[in-house]
Amino acid sequence: MNVVVAIDGPAAAGKGTISKAVAAHFGMAYLDTGSLYRAVAARVLDGADAVAAARGLTAEHLAAPNLRSADVAQMASQVAALPQVRAALVEFQRDFAARPEGAVLDGRDIGTVICPDAQVKLFVTARPEIRARRRYDEQAAQGASDSFDMVLADVRARDERDMNRADAPLKPAGDAVLIDTSDLDIDAAVAAAIRAIAPQVSGAS
Ligand code: CDP
Repeated sequence: MNVVVAIDGPAAAGKGTISKAVAAHFGMAYLDTGSLYRAVAARVLDGADAVAAARGLTAEHLAAPNLRSADVAQMASQVAALPQVRAALVEFQRDFAARPEGAVLDGRDIGTVICPDAQVKLFVTARPEIRARRRYDEQAAQGASDSFDMVLADVRARDERDMNRADAPLKPAGDAVLIDTSDLDIDAAVAAAIRAIAPQVSGAS
């Protein structure tokens, strides 16, 4: 049986790093669903209509070089509040989740809306200052000049918008395992995720 792992959580909590590592560990496919909203946002910043952009996303849009920028991230959380944008992206995500080798999807609403029947649901979080520090380090390494305070304000603004939107707000599924990475290094966070997932994988084979 195909195992689906849903990994949700706020901005810069470490979902991407953990998701990639566990997908590699269990030989599953991995989808960063944030990249879909970021790709729509990048097109909107180029003048496209958000709903049309979501309906017409291509592999080329998903490979745009600026998707990890701070401007794109803020616009992503704005377009992500539009129900028609979210609706246009549901089928692609559910098709991906059906991959025969099993699938890890990370985002905000995977365990609650996209894959409510996922066998494993993780909610990965960390204190806002720690998340902002990680994002600041990541952006500074790429040459960005935003101050730590600006990055922290961006992270807080995005969390606020993601948690308070009417459609598919960010929140842990009732049956999600909570992993707080504030005081964990990458290896410890990945190990905690593997411990939560492993029983379901062995039970499914
Ligand atoms: O990497 P980071 O945690 O900063 O963000 P991301 O996962 O790339 O997501 C960018 C934005 O897309 C989020 O702030 C959400 O507004 C939106 N998003 C969403 O609404 N639902 C998802 N499943 C994934 C992302």
